[in-house]
Amino acid sequence: MKVLITGATGFVGGHLVPALIERGYQVKCLVRNEDKARCLKAQFDVETVIGDVTDADSLHGISENIDYVIHLAAMGHVSSVSKEAYNRFTGINEGGTRNLINEFRYSKTLKKFVHFSSTAAMGPVGEVILDEESAPNPVTPYQKSKWRSEQIILDACSEFAFPGVIVRPCMIYGVGGYGEFYKFCKFMKKGVFPKVGLGKNLTPLVHVDDVVNGAILAMENGRNGQAYILASDTSIEMDELHRLIMKNIGKWAPYIYVPVPITLGVVRIIEIVAKVFEKEPIVNCMNIKSTVYDRTFDIKKAKNELGYVVRISFDKGINETINWFKSQGKI
Ligand SMILES: NC(=O)c1ccc[n+]([C@@H]2O[C@H](COP(=O)([O-])OP(=O)(O)OC[C@H]3O[C@@H](n4cnc5c(N)ncnc54)[C@H](OP(=O)(O)O)[C@@H]3O)[C@@H](O)[C@H]2O)c1
Repeated sequence: MKVLITGATGFVGGHLVPALIERGYQVKCLVRNEDKARCLKAQFDVETVIGDVTDADSLHGISENIDYVIHLAAMGHVSSVSKEAYNRFTGINEGGTRNLINEFRYSKTLKKFVHFSSTAAMGPVGEVILDEESAPNPVTPYQKSKWRSEQIILDACSEFAFPGVIVRPCMIYGVGGYGEFYKFCKFMKKGVFPKVGLGKNLTPLVHVDDVVNGAILAMENGRNGQAYILASDTSIEMDELHRLIMKNIGKWAPYIYVPVPITLGVVRIIEIVAKVFEKEPIVNCMNIKSTVYDRTFDIKKAKNELGYVVRISFDKGINETINWFKSQGKI
């Protein structure tokens, strides 16, 4: 069975490719950069094809003899709010998904197309426990583009029985990841990560190995036209996350309590200054609000329908990830 992966050169792709090979799948990677394609081939036993999901012509013929697709490719700078970022989110996350569906629409071999969305697509929903039925409220350009990319998949499922399945991971961390979790670690080490709110804020976090396992299960067992949240069994309290990160960094740094309204006021000023200089703010009000919200995801659907199991504890995962940041001289 042959699996085409888009976004194989990214964080999740770097874990998904070896996991599929280990399970006996043949892997083909759609890569937009020739040097990166060469690196991938040097590292793993994979085929590569050069293409860009925003360029429909470059995708022509990639569907041949492909049994499964796992579509990771996306623009994921989740905090970006500029007009330019908005256009790139739309082009890659929505347009790229549409182009791939068009290429695979008439495939005679395709059995499943796993689309990577994100719990971000659900936006800041005003409930503590969220599941796939929670009413969505995407607000930022990233959130909206991920939500609309899901609708593109669902439309194809209902219009021409496209075998699409959606997975929605929450914030992913692990070896190789330089996203939001890495930012937490850097800011906490510098002592510039304040304790906003009471510190009990439930923060969703999932290890990359669990996400990879969930995605493969969605490919094998997922129901067409369904979305599955991939998260840990519970969210972690921000105070506990701070404790685990600082313990593993092995350094003391201040963790000063700042009331939410003051933090939001300061961050609003940062946003305004960044806008004047046409730069992305290093932190925005949405980051603060999502840090303060209590959010946890009910993952019953993935467990019951896919057989998803969370294997990596926060303790183990954070230890391994921070050791890796240290080995790379990044923390
Ligand atoms: N990381 C998280 O915390 C998180 C959480 C929830 C959901 N997700 C979703 O999970 C998926 C994978 O995330 P990730 O963290 O692995 O992302 P990532 O590290 O940013 O990697 C993105 C990948 O997409 C590729 N790509 C971007 N634009 C492309 C284009 N136009 N054509 C072809 N390939 C393109 C990149 O290729 P280059 O190497 O050439 O740039 C890279 O391989 C994404 O859909 C993301 O939205 C991630």
